[in-house]
Amino acid sequence: MPPRLAALALLLLSTATCFADGGAGPVFNVTDFGAVADGRTDNSKAFLRAWMKACATPGRPAVVVPGGSYLLHPLVFRGPCRGYMEMHVGGVLRAPPGLGAFRDCREWVYFAGVDGLLVTGGGTFDGRGATAWPLNECTKKRDCRFLPVSIKLGHVRNATLTGVTSVDSKSFHVTVAGSQDVRIHGVRLRAPRDSPNTDGVHIQGSSNVRVTDSAVATGDDCVSIGSGTSDVVVSGVSCGPGHGISVGSLGRNPGEEDVRRLRVANCTISGTTNGVRIKTWRGGSRPTAVSGLVFQDIVMSRVRNPIIIDQEYCPYASCREQRPSAVRISDVKFINIRGVSATQVAVKLSCSEASPCSRLELRDIDLRYVKRGVDTQSQCAHVAGGVAGGKLVPPSCM
Ligand SMILES: *[C@@H]1O[C@H](CO)[C@@H](O)[C@H](O)[C@H]1NC(C)=O
Ligand SMILES: *[C@@H]1O[C@H](CO)[C@@H](O)[C@H](O)[C@H]1NC(C)=O
Ligand SMILES: *[C@@H]1O[C@H](CO)[C@@H](O)[C@H](O)[C@H]1NC(C)=O
Repeated sequence: MPPRLAALALLLLSTATCFADGGAGPVFNVTDFGAVADGRTDNSKAFLRAWMKACATPGRPAVVVPGGSYLLHPLVFRGPCRGYMEMHVGGVLRAPPGLGAFRDCREWVYFAGVDGLLVTGGGTFDGRGATAWPLNECTKKRDCRFLPVSIKLGHVRNATLTGVTSVDSKSFHVTVAGSQDVRIHGVRLRAPRDSPNTDGVHIQGSSNVRVTDSAVATGDDCVSIGSGTSDVVVSGVSCGPGHGISVGSLGRNPGEEDVRRLRVANCTISGTTNGVRIKTWRGGSRPTAVSGLVFQDIVMSRVRNPIIIDQEYCPYASCREQRPSAVRISDVKFINIRGVSATQVAVKLSCSEASPCSRLELRDIDLRYVKRGVDTQSQCAHVAGGVAGGKLVPPSCM
């Protein structure tokens, strides 16, 4: 065969073997870039080489991680890329134990600045948190360093995380920050109930984010919505153990922005410390707003504070700040929330004396105390206006 034809045949052959089934894009198999699935070799260089090749490829390139166990030191999968990036994690990604390999990294697997991303494949991100939780100081004091999050989506657009599991993250399982159009669907996030700061999904500075049909059992908030977030839907999430589905905490850091338009619906919350919660610290000078929130169609099972607004949030033994919270909470609806409260105060609306809550709505609430024959109660402080309707157990205090 003439050399040019041979080269062409080789090219066709190699491209042919590089396409996955079903007409998807070219495949970049981490094994072909030197990854070793022995659970002990650091594979971050091999993963990065596969990512960079895929990232330079137009169309729908896929980085493929086959079955097996891959030790992965912290790494950044950086965009922008030429095409729509897919990452298929079939195996188990293992974080390094402890914090030694993290140096200044606050994240383990970080997708940064990618426009068009799908992470899927049925695999597991194992953060090996048990080796780092004893080093967490953030449960005791305010000035502390957060341990690394397992999966971060930072400044991404049009991204989907689906069909993967995260276990034993060192701190948060998944963080979405500075991002738009993000879907988290059908994921499982799991850590022990006493693991510190292991929030399931934390969202901040982002808009148009959907967290749906997922199971979160962890040591902190199942979903937490931070500063500068708008247009978030949380639906079909089962939460517990954990600290519930929370907006906040807010009002602690300078430069915080408003939280607007959140819908939490069709969720079940079991055995948690809180159900649906808004938490803000005392003090703070920036009068940020939290508004346009709907919590609807939620079933609680033995939850300690099923419905709670807490504007005196202080997770430590004591907090010095005396000034009231500057965060303004308005237009928040709680609709069709039922089930069993593990404490007698099933509804607690504790707002700021500096900026009372306004336009609250309670409708069709049916929360029974776990002890039969004892009624649940609601408590209000600094609620400036609200409407209550439908069935109301406990009776409204507004
Ligand atoms: C990736 O490479 C491994 C090892 O060679 C192989 O078993 C697996 O089938 C490959 N996966 C794909 C999608 O090419
Ligand atoms: C996201 O990416 C997909 C695949 O390229 C594309 O079809 C879709 O239009 C994009 N969506 C947005 C909101 O950019
Ligand atoms: C909750 O479920 C109902 C009934 O399946 C559906 O109509 C509604 O759109 C869901 N809400 C959200 C926010 O997904």
